[in-house]
Amino acid sequence: MSNIVIVGAQWGDEGKGKIIDILSKDADYVVRYQGGNNAGHTVVVGTEEIILHLIPSGILHKNKVCIIGNGVVIDPEALLVEIEYVKSKKIDINSNLRISEEAHVIFPYHKVLDKLREEKFSQTKIGTTGRGIGPCYTDKFARNGIRIVDILNKRIFKQKLKSNLEEKNAIFIKVYKAKRFSFDKIYSEYLKYAQIIKPYVCNSSVLLNDAIKNKKNILFEGAQGTLLDVDHGTYPFVTSSNSTAGGACAGTGVGPTHIDKVIGVVKAYTTRVGEGPFPTEFSSQLMKKIRSRGKEFGATTGRPRRCGWFDAVIVKHAVRVNGLEAIAVTKLDVLDMMPTLKVCVAYRYKAAIYKDFPADIEALWKAQPVYEEMPGWMEDTTAVKDYSQLPLNARKYLKKLEALVGAKIEIVSIGSERNQTLFV
Ligand code: IMP
Repeated sequence: MSNIVIVGAQWGDEGKGKIIDILSKDADYVVRYQGGNNAGHTVVVGTEEIILHLIPSGILHKNKVCIIGNGVVIDPEALLVEIEYVKSKKIDINSNLRISEEAHVIFPYHKVLDKLREEKFSQTKIGTTGRGIGPCYTDKFARNGIRIVDILNKRIFKQKLKSNLEEKNAIFIKVYKAKRFSFDKIYSEYLKYAQIIKPYVCNSSVLLNDAIKNKKNILFEGAQGTLLDVDHGTYPFVTSSNSTAGGACAGTGVGPTHIDKVIGVVKAYTTRVGEGPFPTEFSSQLMKKIRSRGKEFGATTGRPRRCGWFDAVIVKHAVRVNGLEAIAVTKLDVLDMMPTLKVCVAYRYKAAIYKDFPADIEALWKAQPVYEEMPGWMEDTTAVKDYSQLPLNARKYLKKLEALVGAKIEIVSIGSERNQTLFV
């Protein structure tokens, strides 16, 4: 193990939680670097399913320092609920959790604004998780955001909250005809949160760079997926952060020279939640079948996920923009009883063939997938213990994906439990 970044190579929900959980075993530090509680990382330990939204999944292993990096946006109310949830599982969080002082804070007006925007501009809605992620990052980049370090300084906090509310309340009243927010209520509530969070707060860049000097292993835990990245995804149907590997450096204060490897996680098929183009989306019958076999419902919002065939065009794009050398393929078992499988190798749009992911949203909406068909394996793979024991057609399918996307498959997951994992 060395310093490894794990990213989603599709539209999120690739099963990163399980892969991160497995790799965390050899890590000393596990760090989240972007997003917020829009994420939902599911890990199955024994018979128990644990879903984490903000706290790195490494917390489920003993003696791992788990850091919420500066690139993350934190809703303190949600964080405290999650801390209590983790404590209720008899996990030692007090000595293992750290929070960057530079992470930005989500306020109630961000959450309300997120929902109001989606309602008012319903024609162009994104289908956000409604957690205030976009509005919080908007403030960060507009340079009026409020960070963890700011809520720990009463004077600065007062000043910043006042000026934010002056602007936000005018927008709420004039644009959305909605209620204004009271300064006193938010100020006192967040000062209380600040005191509870204070013991966890640190300079995560110093902590991580000291760890690197001491030859410790760091796992950078990406949330969402490459196609939801604000720069490299299906813009504007994306989240508001850099979920790609580059975000790991900006979101933690660790330089790129310290990253040794980037692993992408993909499902053996494709899913996405929320609005936006999805060229290989299934017809309703197949959608129902795979959704129920794969339990494809959002871990954060419970929304049914849209499902489709494996799209090598988007994963090849993910391999390039993340510099992926290795891939983990999850949920192969969901395809066990499919007589035939399709893989999208290119898009056709206006008589042109696209082998590379097009940035034009219209091309993406109207893209006709060009498929290659392969026979399925029609066998249960969930009890397989070694990669070589996988049915021949399953191995052929994986080899095909590997060749199309240009990265090596190192891990194959055939069920939600830790022991349903094959190393290639
Ligand atoms: P936001 O991140 O809540 O602003 O939502 C923007 C888009 O990203 C929406 O389509 C969401 O459904 C999607 N999204 C955000 N987080 C996740 C995730 O963890 N998994 C899958 N989709 C996500």
